[in-house]
Amino acid sequence: MNDADYARKLAAEADLWGAEAERQAALLPPDWEHHRHLRHNVIMHAADIDALLDQIRPGMRTLELGCASGWLTLAMAQRGAHAVGLDISQKALDIARSYYETVRDRVPGSAAYRQTDLNALALEPETYDLVAVKASLHHLVRLEHVIAEVHRALKPGGLLWAADTHGDEAPRTVLVAGALALLLPTHTSYRDKLRALFRFGLRAPERVKASIQAEGLSPFEGAGREHDWLQLIAERFTIERRVNMPAVTGYVTAQLRAPDAVALPLLRALRAVDRRLVAAGLLRNSGVVVYARK
Ligand SMILES: C[S@@+](CC[C@H](N)C(=O)[O-])C[C@H]1O[C@@H](n2cnc3c(N)ncnc32)[C@H](O)[C@@H]1O
Repeated sequence: MNDADYARKLAAEADLWGAEAERQAALLPPDWEHHRHLRHNVIMHAADIDALLDQIRPGMRTLELGCASGWLTLAMAQRGAHAVGLDISQKALDIARSYYETVRDRVPGSAAYRQTDLNALALEPETYDLVAVKASLHHLVRLEHVIAEVHRALKPGGLLWAADTHGDEAPRTVLVAGALALLLPTHTSYRDKLRALFRFGLRAPERVKASIQAEGLSPFEGAGREHDWLQLIAERFTIERRVNMPAVTGYVTAQLRAPDAVALPLLRALRAVDRRLVAAGLLRNSGVVVYARK
């Protein structure tokens, strides 16, 4: 990719996530205390985010890569950290800053947001106690550089918390996700699902996989899948803890159309079965959360 192509794609990436941040901010404030009640967070992320926030001690210096509208950076500041969030989307950062201004009197730490291209990350050495990166590594093209820079920027003994998709979905996982999306009520009608099934025939699993991987959503969606970010982290850090995300629950959570009273118990039950199937090696986890120590 030449420089002009990269700049064009990066601007499109920033536009996309800026629009997404605007859409979300119109629904609820960019604050974990609100976001934690969203269905996909209740089912997929709340336990891991709370476990991360439990690592924060007042006065810590923390950094978030790909902070979007800033809710996680803010949550760290709400625990007393001096937190910095980096993102490419100026629009998302503006939302983060203006919301922070409305709550800052009640925040014991501090939050600062800076526009940065993570692929060209340049950080001060031995500065941060903790670096967090959620769902952003797989958008980056210079992962090795980013992880080396994070390692340099952490204080000795500092923690890198990374949560992201990992690798390609295995065929069996794709089939189970596709079957559940076909059988359960989703945002697509049964008639349209059956039509798509006949139209795509044997190519249907390929389509489900593309949909799981959100292919085409962003110009850099999946760019980082070409690199093994977990391996790159393991080469420099000590992996203290690794949590496998369930295989199909995240996808089904995004697709399912049902009121919370029905959806939440169903998704919790699915998650419990899913985790067991992942632990038994019958399905492949959709992502990983790692706690990596410098
Ligand atoms: C999938 S979103 C995740 C946002 C947030 N971490 C979350 O989990 O809600 C990916 C984020 O990475 C940011 N991003 C993508 N490529 C980037 C780059 N090269 N430099 C900085 N930020 C980037 C996007 O603007 C977007 O906010």
